[in-house]
Amino acid sequence: MGRLVVCDHPLIQHKLTIIRDKTTNHKQFRELVEETATLIGIEATRDLPLEPKTVETPVGRAEGRAIAGRKIGLVPILRAGLGMVEGLLRLLPAAKVGHIGLYRDPETLKPVQYYISLPSDAEERDLIVIDPMLATGGSAIAAISMLKERNCRPTKMLCLIASPEGIRALNEAHPEVDIYTAAVDERLDEHGYIVPGLGDAGDRLYGTE
Ligand code: PRP
Ligand code: URA
Repeated sequence: MGRLVVCDHPLIQHKLTIIRDKTTNHKQFRELVEETATLIGIEATRDLPLEPKTVETPVGRAEGRAIAGRKIGLVPILRAGLGMVEGLLRLLPAAKVGHIGLYRDPETLKPVQYYISLPSDAEERDLIVIDPMLATGGSAIAAISMLKERNCRPTKMLCLIASPEGIRALNEAHPEVDIYTAAVDERLDEHGYIVPGLGDAGDRLYGTE
């Protein structure tokens, strides 16, 4: 079973509350989603392996440490996942970025695929899938399946808000993937929206409501 990490750092919770607020405007929403992604990213990179690395300081020899192991790739699910990418690249500037285009059919709530583009060395990287909302889990499950079908290794799912239903579904479909989220909300409504959630993440990021 994948790990569920609820990132309860006070700054994350403070920013998430402003993100949820319906009076927050698009500009502030975008900025806060990006900042919160950075903070969740710190939690999600806590288990990166290290190896010894010695450097010469101006004063002497320092036995330091450097990140080791497989390189990282970020895979935002379009559109809303894009809002978190820059915040994560700030922590992981050498990460390469793939993109998966999916939208939810409003009637069936099933994800519809329309795009995939991955770095040429994606198979050699540990991939972090990014989307602010894990609602039914359909989009995350489909994105992770698309990556596995291409011999890639998705290891983590980063979101802002998850529903209990989405967590359960993702755990069942891809038990090896760890989930990092700032909150686990109450439930889904009849339209598959997370309650209380934040509304439609893509619309609030890009002003398309
Ligand atoms: C939203 C969100 C997720 C998906 C989550 O995208 O960004 O991708 O819904 O729902 P699920 O867990 O039930 O699949 P949406 O389909 O609205 O597309 P958009 O980001 O392009 O607006
Ligand atoms: N997608 C969103 O953007 N918001 C939700 O609450 C559910 C799916």
